[in-house]
Amino acid sequence: MGVRVLAILLVFLLGDSTGDAATNPYDFSAIMGLKSDWQNTPPNWVGTDPCGNGWDGIHCTNSRITSITLSSMGLTGSLSGDIGQLSKLQILDLSYNKGLTGSLPVQIGNLMKLTNLILVGCGFSGQIPDSIGSLHNLVFLSLNSNEFSGLIPPTIGNLSRLYWLDLADNQLTGSIPVSNGSNFGLDMLLHTKHFHFGQNQLSGTIPSQLFSSGMNLIHVLFDSNHLTGSIPSTLGLVQSLEVVRFDRNSLYGAVPANLSNLTSVQELLLSNNRLTGPLPNLADMNNLNYLDLSNNSFDATDFPTWIPTLQSLTTLILERTQVRGELPVILFSIFSLQKVVLRNNQLNGTLDIGTSHGNQLQLIDLQTNFIDNFKQSTGVYSVEVILVDNLVCEETGAAGQSYCTIPQSNTSSYSTPPNNCIPPLCNSNQTSSPNCKCSSPYTGTLVFRSPSFSVLGNSTYFESLASSMMISFQSNQLPVDSISLSDPRKDSFDYLQLNIAVFPSEGVSFNRMSIYTIGFVLSNQTYKPPKLFGPFYFIADQYTNFAEVQVPKTSKKSTNIGVIVGAAAGGFVLLMLLALVGVYAFRQKKRAEKATEQRNPFVNWDPKKSSGEVPQLRGARCFSIEELKKYTNNFSEANEIGSGGYGKVYRGTLPTETLVAIKRAQQGSMQGGFEFKNEIELLSRVHHKNLVTLVGFCFEQGEQLLVYEFLPNGTLKESLSGKSGIRLDWARRLKVSIGAARGLAYLHELANPPIIHRDIKSTNILLDDHLNAKVADFGLSKLVGEDESGHVTTQVKGTMGYLDPEYYMTQQLTEKSDVYGFGVLMLELLTARRPIERGRHIVREVRVLMNKDKDLYNLQGILDPAIGLGTSLKGLERFVELAMRCVEESGADRPTMGEVVKEIENIMVFTGLNPKAESATTSASYEEASKGYSTHPYSNEDFLEYSGGFPPSRIEPQ
Ligand SMILES: *[C@@H]1O[C@H](CO)[C@@H](O)[C@H](O)[C@H]1NC(C)=O
Ligand SMILES: *[C@@H]1O[C@H](CO)[C@@H](O)[C@H](O)[C@H]1NC(C)=O
Ligand SMILES: *[C@@H]1O[C@H](CO)[C@@H](O)[C@H](O)[C@H]1NC(C)=O
Ligand SMILES: *[C@@H]1O[C@H](CO)[C@@H](O)[C@H](O)[C@H]1NC(C)=O
Repeated sequence: MGVRVLAILLVFLLGDSTGDAATNPYDFSAIMGLKSDWQNTPPNWVGTDPCGNGWDGIHCTNSRITSITLSSMGLTGSLSGDIGQLSKLQILDLSYNKGLTGSLPVQIGNLMKLTNLILVGCGFSGQIPDSIGSLHNLVFLSLNSNEFSGLIPPTIGNLSRLYWLDLADNQLTGSIPVSNGSNFGLDMLLHTKHFHFGQNQLSGTIPSQLFSSGMNLIHVLFDSNHLTGSIPSTLGLVQSLEVVRFDRNSLYGAVPANLSNLTSVQELLLSNNRLTGPLPNLADMNNLNYLDLSNNSFDATDFPTWIPTLQSLTTLILERTQVRGELPVILFSIFSLQKVVLRNNQLNGTLDIGTSHGNQLQLIDLQTNFIDNFKQSTGVYSVEVILVDNLVCEETGAAGQSYCTIPQSNTSSYSTPPNNCIPPLCNSNQTSSPNCKCSSPYTGTLVFRSPSFSVLGNSTYFESLASSMMISFQSNQLPVDSISLSDPRKDSFDYLQLNIAVFPSEGVSFNRMSIYTIGFVLSNQTYKPPKLFGPFYFIADQYTNFAEVQVPKTSKKSTNIGVIVGAAAGGFVLLMLLALVGVYAFRQKKRAEKATEQRNPFVNWDPKKSSGEVPQLRGARCFSIEELKKYTNNFSEANEIGSGGYGKVYRGTLPTETLVAIKRAQQGSMQGGFEFKNEIELLSRVHHKNLVTLVGFCFEQGEQLLVYEFLPNGTLKESLSGKSGIRLDWARRLKVSIGAARGLAYLHELANPPIIHRDIKSTNILLDDHLNAKVADFGLSKLVGEDESGHVTTQVKGTMGYLDPEYYMTQQLTEKSDVYGFGVLMLELLTARRPIERGRHIVREVRVLMNKDKDLYNLQGILDPAIGLGTSLKGLERFVELAMRCVEESGADRPTMGEVVKEIENIMVFTGLNPKAESATTSASYEEASKGYSTHPYSNEDFLEYSGGFPPSRIEPQ
């Protein structure tokens, strides 16, 4: 995880210093969050720049991750809420990774740009989150063949752009949601063409409201569920329908008469229900290819005369439908007819199939009827006729006829033949392609949910399928040599399954990019099979023979990053970081110097000669180095109270007994004389009760020292860490935040010229003995980073989590960068976590966890227990919201510090506190120790140093 922090730092710094389109740091840290929950990520997922280094499966636009396609990568693990951070993501395809389990995170609903969400054939379970309804741009939603349970989220009805909706083959329960006043429902999906809900456990009736004439559905698949009630007549209003499957449910009642209005329907399956009333008259459905009404409780009827008028019919299946009388010979003259199955009826008389049937007729299965005569024609076609359990087969003499025995299942199974070559023998992990080349194919199963044909032995179909697929792969520039299809079969759901093997044209196996791209072409329905195959899905087998990974693209930049990351373990990276920070700061400084030199009359001010006459310094006095040595006991270690990149801080005692904090710049981190003077001039001018007061300075003998008022209660960080022993309850935290906010607002809005702090963090917020917050170190940020000693590292690292990413991207420093830092500080106040902890940024952590529907926005788990969990935390949600606004990605979206002050004041009033009160909000005493919270988040840092003794200051309520 440490490496991960470095990685984030690197992205910040390199992104800034090179100016190239390196991956956006938010996106990078989100992808690292995803990666940390996955195994088997592609081997080239190294470094810090997924976009620049071409990580497999990641596609970017302008340094933002816009697409993740990782189908068939063998990923295992879960999908973490980090996904919600990829705010520009448009396509997410993780299909065919059976090892991806767990639930779909709520944060998926944050992906406002998402158009395609494809998770076919993974192991996801649990409820589909309602937040999915927030994805307003979603066009394609495929969650089929997982283990999702619970209800269909009604919010899906909100997805007005949805074209493809596939939730089939899960364990979804409950009824089909339709809208009512305030609730969304699937009836609202007027643009959707595909409703694929088969093979779930949906129950209840099919709401008549579900369908309307305004819809554009072509596929409505609700097969194999537990639906009851009748088929609503509103279905007949959806004129666009082509495939309708309601088979394998518990539907009852009569089939609505207007179903026949659906003249575009090609496949209609209503079998295996408890439908009653007359067999529906579908005479107008003259495009019907496949009709199955088997196993229902229709009224007994003579064989319908309208059936022979369906001139496109290939397949007629009416088992156990109480059809009686004689089969008309004209039925078999339908030219396209392939299969007639009328088992278990009351057909009688003579079976005459005539001579004028098409050449595709393959099977006539009339088992268990009352047919007493079979008029065999001497046709050349090999039609299989089954009359077992009919009167004709019980007559003596007929029993020996072939039509009186149940045939062996025909073994003429199709398999793509070799392409005029002799298949070689291949080793165990390879197969011969149709072009007789040994290689490792990408394999899987193609499943067609509703083909319009039933003859599986006609190679023409499969040849056209393979060639259309080949064309699709070629037009997507995929290195595919050939495609082999084999073993077409109908499964128990009447789906057509086919084995498919896709062979590589380059080398003997595919690389990852080819695999996930082929996977995407199939999962995203980019490939459209010939229409007679109908809707399909694909389930890939795991591909294990990936071609040898190439070393990631060796562009100049990636090499650099590679070197840096490689050296990270050795600590070399820290030096690199220092150098970069240094270069950056130096550049900024030079720029600033140049700008101000031209207009400042004090450029040549020599402090040694003229230190006595600096009229601009109001209140601050000039100390000699000798004086300060005396006050600090010659800068003794005992008086050292802090250190940082600039040098050390000492406690000093003035002759008046007043305590001061003396900041002594160390060699190498000093500013130029002019700059130093400029700084103290600036600092001496700002006076505010929430800013640490500059008492004086010293600039001689090559030393630069600043003398500040001393604040007995130390830094906010010390209090949050429990180190100072001050327990900060909710009210106190509000008080600290209002103080710090007011100090900053003053710097931004009232100081003249305005001052941007640049380094807001919890170690720069000091607490006086009434726990009033005072902002320290403003105007000093230029000191940071000019030192190449180890201290700077601490400084940079400590500051990192507060850095405004926009500032780092654009180098444009504005007040809003302080607002960002302040937002992070607010989150730190809530959680007592360091901004970057265990490689995770607090902002992201909160975003991921946050759920506005839950109590305390679902943040209990990361709140600092010392805040008083269990007590009233009134206003906390508003505080969180404010903090999150402060850390908006774009500065323009953040409030000003003045607005922040107002809102915190409002929160305090809401909470029952007086925001104008100066004193500590309670007369509480210091905690005796930090007993209450043993697993404090800062504990791995310096909590253990706490020894139990506190500065014995008293807090006095005013
Ligand atoms: C649909 O069917 C009904 C009843 O069969 C009929 O009255 C109506 O005219 C049909 N509508 C259309 C648009 O064909
Ligand atoms: C066939 O059955 C129908 C009624 O089910 C009956 O009217 C008819 O006479 C029968 N035909 C023959 C040839 O048995
Ligand atoms: C196979 O199907 C094609 C297309 O429908 C048809 O033209 C051809 O006659 C069929 N072949 C056989 C042997 O049934
Ligand atoms: C495939 O099998 C051959 C020999 O059986 C072996 O040498 C080779 O390493 C295998 N390749 C892969 C990618 O497993």
